[in-house]
Amino acid sequence: MNANLAVYFKGAVMSLTTSENPPHSVYGRVQLGYVLVDSPRLVEWKRFAAEGIGMTIGEATPERLAFRTDAHARRLIVRVSAKEDIALGWQVEGDAALEVILARLAARKIAVEEVAGEEAALRGVAKFWRFPGPKRQAFELFIEPEVAPPAKTLVSAFVTGERGLGHVAITTRKPAEMIAFWREIFDAKISDYIEDRISGVDLHFTFLRVNPRHHSIAVAATKGLAMDPFATKIQHLEMQAATLDDIGAAYRRCRALGFKIAMAVGQHPNDRDVSFYAVTPSGFYFELGWSSEGDSEAEAWPQVTHQGISVWGHKPQDQTLSDKLAQIRNGVTSLLRTEYSPF
Ligand SMILES: [Fe+2]
Repeated sequence: MNANLAVYFKGAVMSLTTSENPPHSVYGRVQLGYVLVDSPRLVEWKRFAAEGIGMTIGEATPERLAFRTDAHARRLIVRVSAKEDIALGWQVEGDAALEVILARLAARKIAVEEVAGEEAALRGVAKFWRFPGPKRQAFELFIEPEVAPPAKTLVSAFVTGERGLGHVAITTRKPAEMIAFWREIFDAKISDYIEDRISGVDLHFTFLRVNPRHHSIAVAATKGLAMDPFATKIQHLEMQAATLDDIGAAYRRCRALGFKIAMAVGQHPNDRDVSFYAVTPSGFYFELGWSSEGDSEAEAWPQVTHQGISVWGHKPQDQTLSDKLAQIRNGVTSLLRTEYSPF
């Protein structure tokens, strides 16, 4: 078999396995359920998430904040801590899917810790399973979220349901390993790719979906020399609002409250999100977006490479020279670190 033919057959087998959802596939049975932020900046977080973005406060004490966007009792939790960190809580549909994921983690010799009690209550769950994901980011699995009467938010509604609370974007020096992790552990499918040159750096983005949301995770990597320009565990967290008016109103609220806008309103070419990026009190970005994308369209998304992260807009707004220098410094210092990968 010549090399081209081998590549063709390899591609055909991959598309067969990804489109047909083989037995034991957990595709469509995983969604981003909650995000837990450790931060010393709870006062700023309360203003940002509630008054700026427009979530509802479920709990507010000097030690912890819980924000709501829908019927889940907790979607974003901020816990007081001397240093910044972020854990991602993945909701799994039922015991059978959880068993499949735990078996895959065991096969890779990834240690999983089962946690209940106070730690679980903080997250709005009875029990969760924690393990170190790529970049040693805490990944947490849970089945049943605590629910409450639907939250009344400043946003007309947040788009959640089987799509989960939103998506995250993560920068990495090991994109192949990170993508392999998502495909093997969560049966993620590739939606599409984007290439762009941002602040003089050539970047390649891979968008992965695990449910009808166009992507639950975006993997961002530099082309050529592998650098990581972001010091935070995620580059951004996204939530979707139900109307375009919600985006304009939240953008104006964030501006009026004095929060920095990393990128002004614009539109992405792949998920069609019309969005803006505000800088959270923890330093990573928060993207609030609206999209006309429907569930059936996401399933049939063409696996293409878009040129440019935005169709229009998304112009840098409050980024200063020192912000740009910090990203360059992070990129250079990342060369001196080893990035953990479970694979
Ligand atoms: Fe995004």
